[in-house]
This record gives sequence, structure tokens and C-alpha cells, in this order.
Amino acid sequence: MQTTEKTLTIEEAFRSHTLELIKLRGWISSRSDVGALLFATLRDGTGYIQIAGKRGVTRDEVINEMRKASVESSVLLSGIVKEDKRAPGGKEVQVSSFRIVAPADKWPITKTAVKSRSFLYDNRHLSIRGRKSIAVMRIRAQIIYAAFDFFAKNGFMLISAPTLVQAASEGGSTLFSLDYFGKEAFLTQSSQFYEEAAICSFEKVFIFQPAFRAEKSRTPKHLTEFWMIEAEQAFASQEDNLNLQESFLSVVLKHVIEKNQAELETLGRRFELPNLPYPRISYNDVWKIATEKGMAFEWGNDLPTDVERMISIDTKSPFFITDYPATSRGFYHMLKEEDERLTLSADLIAPEGFGEIATGGQRIHDLELLTKRVKEQDLSSESFKWYMDLRKYGLPPHSGFGIGVERTVRWVCGLKNIRTASLFPRTITRISP
Ligand code: 4AD
Ligand code: MG
Repeated sequence: MQTTEKTLTIEEAFRSHTLELIKLRGWISSRSDVGALLFATLRDGTGYIQIAGKRGVTRDEVINEMRKASVESSVLLSGIVKEDKRAPGGKEVQVSSFRIVAPADKWPITKTAVKSRSFLYDNRHLSIRGRKSIAVMRIRAQIIYAAFDFFAKNGFMLISAPTLVQAASEGGSTLFSLDYFGKEAFLTQSSQFYEEAAICSFEKVFIFQPAFRAEKSRTPKHLTEFWMIEAEQAFASQEDNLNLQESFLSVVLKHVIEKNQAELETLGRRFELPNLPYPRISYNDVWKIATEKGMAFEWGNDLPTDVERMISIDTKSPFFITDYPATSRGFYHMLKEEDERLTLSADLIAPEGFGEIATGGQRIHDLELLTKRVKEQDLSSESFKWYMDLRKYGLPPHSGFGIGVERTVRWVCGLKNIRTASLFPRTITRISP
């Protein structure tokens, strides 16, 4: 094989001229022998292109080598770019030289072999090479790129926070605990408390970090390890927080729509940019609607999953459910002045029944009120010592939110299960591969 010309990516190959001799590398994602013709689809990090060998035109040894290349073998090749209307993308490469770099055993992920979903996830180290899986991960990456870009442009400082912690920010029932040199420690549920400390240094901060929840139930929207994007601003009300969330999400969605049409098409997903502002409905109103529809639940409890689904199933736009009762929220939520049974908090709900993707609110910045709330929720103030201490040193009113990356990906991609939104998902029943 000639080694003089530069190896192109498949994306570049589509931009090259007809009859140009190019070099490619990648994996054989599918192949077929049709009489004297040998077709395969080559995949690299940028896409797919059809490659072809033709008996009588292509040299015999090249044809023989191509025949040996089983699905998912990695290969190097050179060939001539041809226009071909029948080929996906309108171009094909007629192979002139071909080498197998690393052969693949018989590929286990076939339509007939995939009898159960768990088979695909047991073989996730391989099944992530599938077209849909690649499309989902590309969209996920664009969501994250867009998020970083949004925060950088809007003056938010990127921070990091520890994964090993000693306090439960989101309740004790979903904590993963571990032995930390003889003391009990936990995996972090959220970096919110660390952001609250950091806003006095940086005013506006954001973080992109894994969060861990020992979720005991099997649902299509819970992982035990997931990624969260969180943001926190000093001198900011809950109204500021809602405005931030919707402009954030809108920018992210616009970016995905611009960058990921091909991926959305691969997933059979039609996705339109929802208009701003996103609608808002109070917890009280949702509670009334649920009661009228015969789905009554006790006022003050968190929204039952079926109610959340009912309220969002026929909507097209994300929306906020605001003013949750204090009894259904963490101790740190600021109470509403007009009605102290309610908090300045909201969930951002994705449409079409996908449900909650973000939670946020204004935090209590007053030490006395926070101490009272800690007592009311029967928590030990010892584990929140430093968090309380912040309230003694000029902590202004502040607010923030956390949005689940995989929940967002699930909705944008229209996935049945959140597992598909993670490259290597962790659930109650899965810790491998
Ligand atoms: O609603 P949560 O528990 O809120 C917090 O952790 C706040 N401290 C965030 C903040 O204000 N900084 O979690 C935030 C989001 C949820 O809305 C959801 O999208 C996602 O994280 N999430 C999960 N995603 C997948 N699997 C789970 N088990 C999740 N639990 C929460
Ligand atoms: Mg929540």
C-alpha cells in the first residue's frame, strides 16, 4: 500500500473530488457479496462510506483480502472516489489496495442474537458501535459542548467539587456509603453545596460532574451514576434562576438542532425548537388537576410519576412546575414569603411524558431559618456544619439548578430508557461492562 498521501477521514472523503485516489481507515460495519461485486460499509470516527471491489476491475489479491475482512475488523485501504447515486451520501470508494489491521471474530451483535435488551447491555462494550448508539453519543457530546459554551459566554466560572463527601445533600435514602479510613463517607449526590461556597469567590459558577444515587427502583429514568450540569449564582432570585434555565436549555437545543440533524434522523426523531418563555404551572395547580382527573395524591408529597407523566404527555414544550411544598423538598430551599408552606423551587419538565430533567431553586441564605429547617427535617446539623457556617460570612440571596445530562439526552433523542443515554450505564442491576 502507498503511504505517501495523507489518510482522510470519511467526512473529508465525501468532500474530495471524483476520481481522486484517497486513503481511508476504519472498521467494516457491514458487508455483502453480490455476484462479482463486493460491497462494504466503512465506519470511522466521522461517519460511514460505501466501499466496493469488483471482480475483473479490482486486483484479485485485493478482492481476496476484502473477502477476509469480517464485520468489525479494522482496516486500511486506498481507492478511487466515484459518484454513485445508489450509495448512501452519493459517493463510493472503489478499492485499489486493502489491508486488515486487526481482524474481528464473528460479530455477536446480530438481529437474531439480540433476543433481549439485556444481551445488548451485557455486550455494551461492543454494542456501542451501533449506528443508533453512536448517534445518541454524538448528540450527548453536542449538548455538553453547548452547555460549556453557554456558561463561558455568560460569565460562569467552571469549578470542580469532590466526589467523596460526608453529607447528604439530597436525602439519606439514596446514598452510596463507603469506608473512608474508618469513617463513613458517601459518593456525592449533587455538587450544589460546593457551588454555594464557591459563589462568594466567583459569583457565578457551573460544574459538570457525575452524581450518584442508590436508587432502589428499576425505572426508565433512573441511573445510579449519572452526569449533572449544575449552575449557581449569587445575588439571584428564583425568577432569575428560571430565566437562566430556559435560556440555557434553549441555546443547547438550538445547537443540537443545528449540529445533529443526521443523528436525529438516524434515531427517527423529529425535534423542533420550543419557543421561549417556557410555560409555568404551580404545584398547587398540578395537584388540583390531578385530583379532578381521579389521580389524587396527598398535598405536600412529591409528584407521583403518573401525575408528572399525565401533566406532560400531551405538551410539546418543556415547562416549569413551581412552588413545591416545603415537605417535598430539601431543607435548603427558600420558603415563599406569601405562604411559608411553599418553597421558591421548580422542576423543569420535558414534554411528551419524559418528565423531570432539572430541579432548582433559591436557597436559604439566613442561618436562623436554615437551622430551623434542619431541625424540622430531623437532620443532624453536625454533617452540615461548613454549609451552615457559610451563612455567617456574607452569603447573599442566591439560586441555582441541576440538570441531568442523561435525562436530557433521553428526551432529545426520544429514547425509551435512560440506559441508552449513557455509554456504560449503571443501574440497580448493572455494574458491568
Ligand atoms: O432533582 P435533583 O435531585 O436536584 C439536585 O440534586 C439539586 N441539588 C440540583 C441543584 O439545584 N444544583 O437532581 C437534579 C437532576 C434531576 O432533575 C434529574 O435530571 C437528574 O438530576 N437526576 C437523575 N438522573 C438520572 N438518574 C437518577 N437517579 C437521577 N436523579 C436525579
Ligand atoms: Mg428533582
